[in-house]
Amino acid sequence: MRPVIMSTDPGIDDAVAIALAVASPALDVKLLCPVAGNVDRAKTTANTLKLLAFLQATIPVVPGSARPLLRAPQAAADIHGESGLDGFAFPQPTQVADTTQTAVAAMHQVVSTSVAPVTLIAIGPLTDIALFAHLYPEDLPNVAELVIMGGALGRGNLGVLAEFNFACDPEAAAMVAALPVPLRIAPLEVGQQARLLPATLAQIKTLGPVGAMFDGLFSHYRGGSMQTGLKMYDALAVALVLAPELFTEVATHLDVALADPLTAGASLFDLKGYRQQADNVHVATAVDAAGFARWLVAVLGKLA
Ligand code: RIB
Ligand code: CA
Repeated sequence: MRPVIMSTDPGIDDAVAIALAVASPALDVKLLCPVAGNVDRAKTTANTLKLLAFLQATIPVVPGSARPLLRAPQAAADIHGESGLDGFAFPQPTQVADTTQTAVAAMHQVVSTSVAPVTLIAIGPLTDIALFAHLYPEDLPNVAELVIMGGALGRGNLGVLAEFNFACDPEAAAMVAALPVPLRIAPLEVGQQARLLPATLAQIKTLGPVGAMFDGLFSHYRGGSMQTGLKMYDALAVALVLAPELFTEVATHLDVALADPLTAGASLFDLKGYRQQADNVHVATAVDAAGFARWLVAVLGKLA
């Protein structure tokens, strides 16, 4: 089992990603660090705890940053609902968040003491990943890889060119792009290619209590529609870890735009090498959508 830390801002697609990671026998989720993103940190923390209670999983939850490094927080309640997980009445949490330490200190403790290199999965703004790497560079050799949902090969979803996670904290994204660790990225496009179509949504609904829970969340999720397909962006990052054979990945150079307010957070994946810079990421440019749907239903089925 691969030790894993997740930085997350649940968020309905985050909930799918967390459930996939918890369900997978190949992953040992050591730590969940809710960060401000889709909704504020208090809500992303509460949502993480509620989801774990529902999944009957006990995993340390250490809240991360309440705001980006430099910029004002964004929010996406219009997509995920005011709570960030609208659509299902979760049970009360059965554990409390650990507020005796920071998320980066908890990341340090896990990575610095892990016998096996740790996989970091970042599916929210990259604030805490950037802070962890900045404060504990000596830990980075024990990071197996950093797998991120973020960026866009083309047009964004929070701005004309900026994807939400990168746009929330462009400075953090730029710091992460320069890290000396293997970076793999699932941009908006693979979430769009692998959107969950009605037939798959109908299959998920049959997966017992977990299926009913996700059916409730999906009916409130505004990342697409139940008729045309739902974009479960964060689930693609977990799929990139567990089912890489479903993806086409390209080594390239990533820059993150910072200076101009019009483009701040834009991810410049230099697929044609205009910049003549060394590759610093592998970006997924395509995904087997039907294979992803089969994989997702099979893994969530382990929770049914
Ligand atoms: O742009 C999509 C990303 O922003 C996803 O991680 C979603 O949960 C939101 O955080
Ligand atoms: Ca997210």
